[in-house]
Amino acid sequence: MIIAPSVLSVDYSHLSEQMKELNESDAQWIHYDVMDGHFVPNLTFGPDILKGFRKLSDRFLDVHLMITDPIYYSDIFIDAGADGITFHEEALLDEEKIRSLAKHLRLRGIQAGLSIKPKTDLDKLKPYLEDFDLFLIMSVEPGFGGQKFMPDSIERVRTLRSWLDELHLNTHIEVDGGINAETGKLIKEAGADVLVAGSYVFKNNIKEAVASLE
Ligand code: DX5
Ligand code: ZN
Repeated sequence: MIIAPSVLSVDYSHLSEQMKELNESDAQWIHYDVMDGHFVPNLTFGPDILKGFRKLSDRFLDVHLMITDPIYYSDIFIDAGADGITFHEEALLDEEKIRSLAKHLRLRGIQAGLSIKPKTDLDKLKPYLEDFDLFLIMSVEPGFGGQKFMPDSIERVRTLRSWLDELHLNTHIEVDGGINAETGKLIKEAGADVLVAGSYVFKNNIKEAVASLE
């Protein structure tokens, strides 16, 4: 299981201590939520702060773009140190654009991810199963940490894993929102292999919380 703590929930008045603990934990990835105040009703951080995280950790930087213009911003985040970029199907809504951005990310040597919000039909991912390295199923409405896990996500993960299995693809399935030891276990059984956790990790002992999700 890959654990991706979301730095949205870091206590920024204790950033270096929290990053030190994270670097000592078993978390392999760091999840970095970019919000533009348009695609979601919240604002977070841009590429310069990502450069700071690049210096603070050598873990895989998993950038989740909750923005309306992923085509323009992807290169900027790649140059700032992203190892993987996940953008939203709902931001582009166009097969050609979605496929061409996936191709571009792969050509630039990073992992390509596609995400859908909880109310978006799972079938929207079907045309792209072979085009991405990762699918991110949102288990809360994107925009804020600390929300309650939506249980329908479990069935969505199970169905998506069965579609990928039929094609013999071992693409990552990542789940984001309301993950803790209990919901993490259910989602893992359904076939996810990457768990994002923000408040659960940073509001508890970081190393112990990460270990409880593995
Ligand atoms: C929400 C973000 C999440 C967020 C998860 O829009 O995409 O990554 O950090 O936070 P928790 O784990 O607290 O639900
Ligand atoms: Zn996220």
